[in-house]
Amino acid sequence: MDERRKPLIAGNWKMNLDLAGATALAREVLQRCGRVRTADVCVLPPSPLIQAVGKVLEGSVVGFGGQDLSPEDEGAYTGDVSAKMLLSLGCQYVCIGHSERREYHLETDESVRAKTGRALDSGLIPIVCVGERLAERDSGDTFHRVERQVMVGLGGLSPEAMARVVAAYEPVWAIGTGRTATPAQAEEVHEYIRKLLAGMFGEVIANRTRILYGGSVKPGNARELLGQKDVDGALVGGASLSAESFAGIVECAG
Ligand code: 13P
Repeated sequence: MDERRKPLIAGNWKMNLDLAGATALAREVLQRCGRVRTADVCVLPPSPLIQAVGKVLEGSVVGFGGQDLSPEDEGAYTGDVSAKMLLSLGCQYVCIGHSERREYHLETDESVRAKTGRALDSGLIPIVCVGERLAERDSGDTFHRVERQVMVGLGGLSPEAMARVVAAYEPVWAIGTGRTATPAQAEEVHEYIRKLLAGMFGEVIANRTRILYGGSVKPGNARELLGQKDVDGALVGGASLSAESFAGIVECAG
């Protein structure tokens, strides 16, 4: 990894836990990761649990954020969460365009772009996810798919705005399957994403942008993945639900 890019380890709790479980997990994460300086660390709890988690983590080095946000400011959008709400809870981050949102909520590269713009306008750091499905990898469409997701999802941002974006490469076939991309497979796509960003925003911004890897990251495979030149952190699902394994991954980023 480039020395100018501080790793970010983000725990995506997805739709897991309840109030008591989330508060307890946040306390344990704080205990284990509260003195980490070599990496940025954050957790992304489900929306109704953010406030309680935020109370545990506020003022600490462990950041927190949402798993999604509406591209709209406010209004009649039942079930949606606004940037203003996340900010009022103290969130610094928001995940955008996760493959599960694309799959189950029909999000598109265009909606990812709109949400990313909203996050940036409001001061949140968007963690923008891209990644191919298994069929796309098998048919040799990985780069084509990722290219479209990056070009459309981040298209038209100013270089200044892009400087605050975190990208995440999550091959869909590696999410929750235990089937991790090999470090070489991850690096190949990360390097490609950085090249795309260089074409869109210039070398300086591209070299500064953190590109996280996600998909079955565990303490046992994190060191090798994070050791790749263009892998600047991890977006962790299942393993972030145990403070011990999450902290184990954070240690690998040191
Ligand atoms: P897993 O770590 O459970 O594979 O999930 C990855 C992910 O989707 C993180 O956003």
